[in-house]
Amino acid sequence: MNNDELIQREYLNKAKACVEEYKRLIGHEPSSCVVTFGCQMNARDSEKLTGILKEAGFTITDDENADLVLYNTCTVRDNANQRVYGRLGHLNSLKKKNPHKKIVLCGCMMQEETVLSKIKESYGFVDLIFGTHNIFKFAELLCRMFESDGMIVDIWKDCDRIVEELPTIRKFSYKSGVNIMFGCDNFCSYCIVPYVRGRERSRKSEDIINEIKALADDGVIEIMLLGQNVNSYGKNLDEDITFAKLLSEVENIDGIERIRFMTSHPKDLSDELIEVMKDSKKICRHLHLPLQAGSNKILKAMNRRYTKESYIDLALKIRDKIPDIALTTDIIVGFPGETDEDVDDTIDVIKKVGFDNAFTFIYSKRTGTPAASMEQVDEDTVKRNFDRVLKVVQETARNAVSQYEGKVMDALCESVNEHDKAMLDGRLSNNTIVHFKGDDALIGKIVPVRLVECHGFYFTGELCRNL
Ligand code: SAH
Ligand code: SF4
Ligand code: F3S
Repeated sequence: MNNDELIQREYLNKAKACVEEYKRLIGHEPSSCVVTFGCQMNARDSEKLTGILKEAGFTITDDENADLVLYNTCTVRDNANQRVYGRLGHLNSLKKKNPHKKIVLCGCMMQEETVLSKIKESYGFVDLIFGTHNIFKFAELLCRMFESDGMIVDIWKDCDRIVEELPTIRKFSYKSGVNIMFGCDNFCSYCIVPYVRGRERSRKSEDIINEIKALADDGVIEIMLLGQNVNSYGKNLDEDITFAKLLSEVENIDGIERIRFMTSHPKDLSDELIEVMKDSKKICRHLHLPLQAGSNKILKAMNRRYTKESYIDLALKIRDKIPDIALTTDIIVGFPGETDEDVDDTIDVIKKVGFDNAFTFIYSKRTGTPAASMEQVDEDTVKRNFDRVLKVVQETARNAVSQYEGKVMDALCESVNEHDKAMLDGRLSNNTIVHFKGDDALIGKIVPVRLVECHGFYFTGELCRNL
C-alpha cells in the first residue's frame, strides 16, 4: 500500500465511527443510494464510492429516499447537467421531510467553476461536493461532512497520482469495468472531458493484470478495459507496453471469457491491435470507433486528426481482417460551421462503413472549449440534419444487424427483462442485445441463442439447449 492508501484506510475506520454516531442520531441502520450519470468511467468510480459507503457502515439501495444520496455527475453535454439540476430540486423536497438526510455531489460536472458557483448559490442544502481527482479521499470527506454543519467542498484541478486498492462493490457479479488509464490529452475542440478529467495517465500493466486476476477469482467472466483513448495506453509509462500487448496479457488470464474495451480513437488504432483482435478467442467482435463527423473541414476544426478517407480506409481494413466484427460509432451533428454538405459527408461515411449502431448527438456548447467561441449553427438546421443522419443510421444498422438473423450465437445472460419477467436480456460478442425466454439462474452464463427476429438494433431469440 502507498501512503495515500494507508491514510485512507485510517479514515475509513474513522468514518465507521461517524456512521455509528449517525445511526444513533437517526435511530436506524443508515442507507445510501448512489446515482450514476454519464459513461462507463463514472460507473466504475461509482462502484468504488459504493464500496467505501458499504465499508463505512451504510446499507446500499436504489431508492433516493435513502439517508445519504450521492450523484456522480456527467457534463459531456448540457442535457446531462440539466438532469442533475432537475433532480436536485426533488432531493431538496425529500430533505425537508428527512432533515438528517445527506446529499453528496461528485464527478465531472463538479470540476466546472460555473457549476460550483451555481450550486453554492442556489443549492445550499448540498452537504458535500468533490470532483473526479479525489474520489479516493471519499472516506476522509465523509468524516469531514459528519463533523461539520455547512457544505464541504473539495475540488482538485488535476492529479498525477493513481490510488489503487479502494474497496469496491460491483454492480454486476459476472462483469466488470477495469480502468487502464485516466484523463485525456486529445483536446477535441468540442469536448470538456480533458478539462474535467485531467491529463492522460496509464496504470501500470502489473496493477491492471492483478486486478483482473482478482476479478476472475471472484467469478467475473467479462471485463471492459476503460479509458478515453485506450489506443494510446502506455505512452507515459516506463514499461515497454502497448494497448495491443496489454490485451494479449489479459487474454492469458484464466476465467476471463470475454474482453471488451472503450474507447478507441481512430487516429491511434494500430495494425498490431487489429492482428491481436483477429487472433483472439476472447476479445469481443465489437469495436466502437467514434467518427464524430465525415467532413474533412469539420474534422479539422474538431481537432480529430484523421480525415474522412483515412477513417473509411481504417474501418474497411478492420472489416476485411475481422469479417464478423460489429463497428459502432459516435456522431455529432451541428458542430460550429457545419453545413448541409458537411452532413452529406457524414452520411456518406455511415453508408460506406455500414455501422452496426451509432450514437448520434446534437452538438452541445461546453464553456471553456475552443468550439464554444466558434460561430454556432442555427437550431432548425441542426434539427433537420440530425433527423437526416438518424434515418440513415437506422437503415444501415438494421442492414448490418439483420445479417445474423436465423443464426445461433453465444449470448452472455445479463439481466431479467424489465418489461417481461419471463425473458432474459443477453449480449452477443458483437454487443447486439437479444431478448429470449429463460430462467434467471442463467444470469452470468454464456449460452447459445438462436436469433429469430431482428428488430433494428436488437433481436428476439430462443435458447438452444441441445447443441
Ligand atoms: N473519448 C471518447 C468519447 C468520450 S465522450 C472518444 O473520443 O471517442 C462520448 C461522446 O460524446 C463523444 O464520442 C462525442 O460524440 C460526444 N460528445 C462529446 N462532447 C460533445 C459535445 N460537446 N456535444 C455533443 N456531443 C459530444
Ligand atoms: Fe473528448 Fe476527444 Fe478526449 Fe474523447 S478523445 S474524451 S472526444 S477530447
Ligand atoms: Fe461524462 Fe465525465 Fe464520462 S463528462 S462522459 S462522465 S468522463
